[in-house]
Amino acid sequence: MSEISHKWLNGLPKIELHLHIEGTLEPELLFKLAKRNSIQLPFNSVNEVKKAYQFSNLQDFLDIYYQGAEVLLHKQDFYDLTWAYLLMCKQQNVMHIEPFFDPQTHTVRGVPFETIVSGIAEALADGKGKLGITSRLIMCFLRHLSEESAIETLKSSEQFTDVIYGVGLDSAEMGNPPEKFINVFTKAKGMGYKLVAHAGEEGPASYIWSSLDVLNVQRIDHGIRAIDDPDLMLRLIESQMPLTICPLSNVKLRVFDNMASHTILDMLDLGVCVTVNSDDPSYFGGYMTENFLALYDSLELSRDQAISLINNSIDASFAEDSRKKELSNLLQTYISD
Ligand code: HPA
Ligand code: ZN
Repeated sequence: MSEISHKWLNGLPKIELHLHIEGTLEPELLFKLAKRNSIQLPFNSVNEVKKAYQFSNLQDFLDIYYQGAEVLLHKQDFYDLTWAYLLMCKQQNVMHIEPFFDPQTHTVRGVPFETIVSGIAEALADGKGKLGITSRLIMCFLRHLSEESAIETLKSSEQFTDVIYGVGLDSAEMGNPPEKFINVFTKAKGMGYKLVAHAGEEGPASYIWSSLDVLNVQRIDHGIRAIDDPDLMLRLIESQMPLTICPLSNVKLRVFDNMASHTILDMLDLGVCVTVNSDDPSYFGGYMTENFLALYDSLELSRDQAISLINNSIDASFAEDSRKKELSNLLQTYISD
């Protein structure tokens, strides 16, 4: 039986359910797009950019992340961004992805909704055709903006329901509770969208409760603060409500002091449906393989735990049943070799 190693974790078939496409913008592509679009950056070199990626909290990160996104203007830019992520998925054997995109980050700068969606969706279609990677695209509303703005964004998506599969909620959590978005989530559900929301990253466990009970989400993004609330833990275990956890992100944004104090494997052992994801890999120091490797290095992730985490991701995904079966078979073949 193969032991855990970088090679084994990299080859392990993986599924990514919490990934902001704007957060995959590598410094090299940032410079390339800035040049192509004649945009002045406040950095002079890739090294300078990397040095700037030190964050004290979520807001610190968001400021630099929204600034980086300003180089994205044209359909080709969104295509190139998404394609670069897909190539990384191929390298790391990530077989199914459910990326987020933040339309409001771009529409406020005058980029048409269609430009954003069509660039991303064409790359995802090529990802399936050329690389065999399946996907479900999720549109996130920025929670620091108003619900009216989210509703306007939802309306813009009406012509694209063939390529957008769900809606989510991201950006600054504190002071922007799920209740602020009850109307837009109700409308989105009526349009047939799957529902997810970031909750309990920096915000309290009560935001997880209200994401479940007020917004009616089908997955919680992050959700690590659930561990503070025994009743919520019971609810999550009984309902097998998935949490999309992002270990490297949580340490980079100081949600945990270090990887050794991360609680993801405690939650897994208690029976919570936790999954591993990379969030904003260009900013947080790694993609899927690096997140698994961090759990192995700091928390002694076992082979059985790694396999359970992948099985959870298959269960929690919005892939169709036949694709879930295929993914399970691929996992079985890999672990029995
Ligand atoms: N939290 C909230 N909003 C975000 C994140 C995150 O980790 N990444 C990109 N937008
Ligand atoms: Zn996120």
